[in-house]
Amino acid sequence: MDRIIQLKKDNNAVILAHYYQLPEIQEIADFVGDSLQLAQKASQTKADVIVSCGVRFMAETAKILNPEKMVLLPASNAGCPMADMVTADALRDKKAEHPDAVVVTYVNSSAAVKAESDICCTSSNAVRVVESVPPDQEILFVPDRNLGQFVASQTGRRIILWDGYCPVHDVLAVQELQAQMEAYPDARVVVHPECQPDISARADAVKSTAGILDYIKNTDAKTFIVGTEEGFLHTVQQDCPDKTCYLARKSFVCKDMKQIDLQTLVRSMEGLEEQVIVPEGIRQKAYQALENMLRLG
Ligand code: 13P
Ligand code: SF4
Repeated sequence: MDRIIQLKKDNNAVILAHYYQLPEIQEIADFVGDSLQLAQKASQTKADVIVSCGVRFMAETAKILNPEKMVLLPASNAGCPMADMVTADALRDKKAEHPDAVVVTYVNSSAAVKAESDICCTSSNAVRVVESVPPDQEILFVPDRNLGQFVASQTGRRIILWDGYCPVHDVLAVQELQAQMEAYPDARVVVHPECQPDISARADAVKSTAGILDYIKNTDAKTFIVGTEEGFLHTVQQDCPDKTCYLARKSFVCKDMKQIDLQTLVRSMEGLEEQVIVPEGIRQKAYQALENMLRLG
């Protein structure tokens, strides 16, 4: 940890970490947040080097917003299986089938896919983003079918869904959630919108990771059943020591988010690798889709 602090000073670096990162990475980070907050931080930082502790799409987002800065992804194999469920070619084909549709793309996507999109969203602003689209316009929502369906249920909009999903959240079964609800009958249930619709329908609240944290902080209940990745529990323990949280299923782990540990981080900061590169032609178009989202606040 001392070495990382020194490297941060030497390189004028900032470490941005997602809530799903290992506890020690959250501890050493300058900022811990959800995808939207990380994108906002990346667009505001004065640092020369952004160390993105998360998965590839998060580091790419930071680079798209900061082409002049060095962006490091400490574990080059940390991807997002959901982001890999849509390619730019496949999206172009779908757009040809729906030429008038506005393409709303979840940030959990590659830079090349963002470049084919009209506007990005995260799980915390997806409803707002969809509501910003004129009501008479068709919407193609990419790639998370569960988030897309949740947004459709909240907005009443007819949305064409891509058939992507998060293998970590989508696998949560109703029986597993019900077993936890029976074990902790006084608990409030709060889940991430990447869970399936029949899970969201049973929850007291459906929110992004930052939204789940706010919900736990601002709700009188003492016990919660949480439908999201286990790394998030570290955040809650730090911020709300008086609350008790149980995961909605026993194993709720995103392996990609666990690729970065302290050793990986030191190696990355010492060797300045892996430096994330986004080709300029793609970056400019992807920037526009991200900027359209960030402008909504
Ligand atoms: P958030 O938008 O809540 O940060 O979620 C990102 C993610 O990858 C969830 O699986
Ligand atoms: Fe991707 Fe799911 Fe992991 Fe989030 S939790 S990074 S959506 S695989």
